Amino acid sequence: MTTSDRTVVITGGTSGLGRECARAIAADPRWTVVVTGRDAERARAEAAAIGAQAATLDLGALASVAHFADEFRTSGLPPLRALVCNAGLQYTRRTYTEDGVEATFGVNHLGHLALVQALLGDLIAPARIVFVGSATHDPKQITGMPDPLDTNVRELAYPPKPTESAPRDGRRRYSTSKLANLQTTYELARQFEARGITVNAFDPGLMPGTGLARDSGSVAQLWWHTVARGLVLLPGVNTPRRSGKALARLVTDPSLAEVTGRYFVGRTAKPSSKASYDQDAQHALYTDSLELLGELTR
Ligand SMILES: NC(=O)c1ccc[n+]([C@@H]2O[C@H](COP(=O)([O-])OP(=O)(O)OC[C@H]3O[C@@H](n4cnc5c(N)ncnc54)[C@H](OP(=O)(O)O)[C@@H]3O)[C@@H](O)[C@H]2O)c1
Repeated sequence: MTTSDRTVVITGGTSGLGRECARAIAADPRWTVVVTGRDAERARAEAAAIGAQAATLDLGALASVAHFADEFRTSGLPPLRALVCNAGLQYTRRTYTEDGVEATFGVNHLGHLALVQALLGDLIAPARIVFVGSATHDPKQITGMPDPLDTNVRELAYPPKPTESAPRDGRRRYSTSKLANLQTTYELARQFEARGITVNAFDPGLMPGTGLARDSGSVAQLWWHTVARGLVLLPGVNTPRRSGKALARLVTDPSLAEVTGRYFVGRTAKPSSKASYDQDAQHALYTDSLELLGELTR
């Protein structure tokens, strides 16, 4: 007999940070943990290994987002108390989603916003949403990544021809998508406060060895899976397990029940970049993204 009385959905729970966050929360019998992955078989196997449930979700296909939300609604699972928007990827070549949107923006930002909208009626207060960001959103942090673009939703969704090398263009789109995660966090935190839903962002630090480099060239992959793993004793470098526990805490720690609109680097709340606090930019990103989602699902 299940003792669980609450559910958390973790996107991208089949690998890296998401899997470790899921593992940490699933150890508490009060929680039913749903991990999502694009491949149903793989998601089932990964979920079974950590005591979670599996669901299929492709954030690059808005029909899949709608289907996932419909399935969740009829699943009979305990009330949805938390959503962790963790899935993310980084392309080194221009790639487009099933809906024809540049895929880094489409998956990391637009798909997650669509998911939040689709599950909003199912989130029962007190509830928590966490977006996984990254230090790469902040030009003041030394991450080796290009600064985010300062542009509008249309240009992010349908970018002009790259003016820099494909890998650099892809990395810039990644840091831009992580800025969008922060902007969305702050916008939704304001909007959802009266509903009893908190919204926070999380930076796991550098976690070498995860699947994030899967689209990189063979030399970069070799570095990511070997040499970079040895950096784990340096400040700001973490294992997925350590960061997964810190991410899980944002979902489960009772002392954070009222905390909203904050950016956590590991276990510590810190300021994010100057650009991320621009409320006009946050609101424009939100409204223009919803308009685009409306067009894409019409
Ligand atoms: N690794 C780092 O150093 C680092 C640093 C800062 C922030 N982050 C952030 O941490 C988060 C997790 O990354 P990770 O390093 O753990 O990478 P990872 O091991 O590659 O995990 C990414 C997850 O996202 C899922 N995913 C990818 N594309 C998807 C799509 N179209 N629809 C749904 N799910 C999709 C993958 O699931 P399937 O492939 O099974 O579908 C996978 O479970 C990301 O948001 C990333 O930006 C990572």
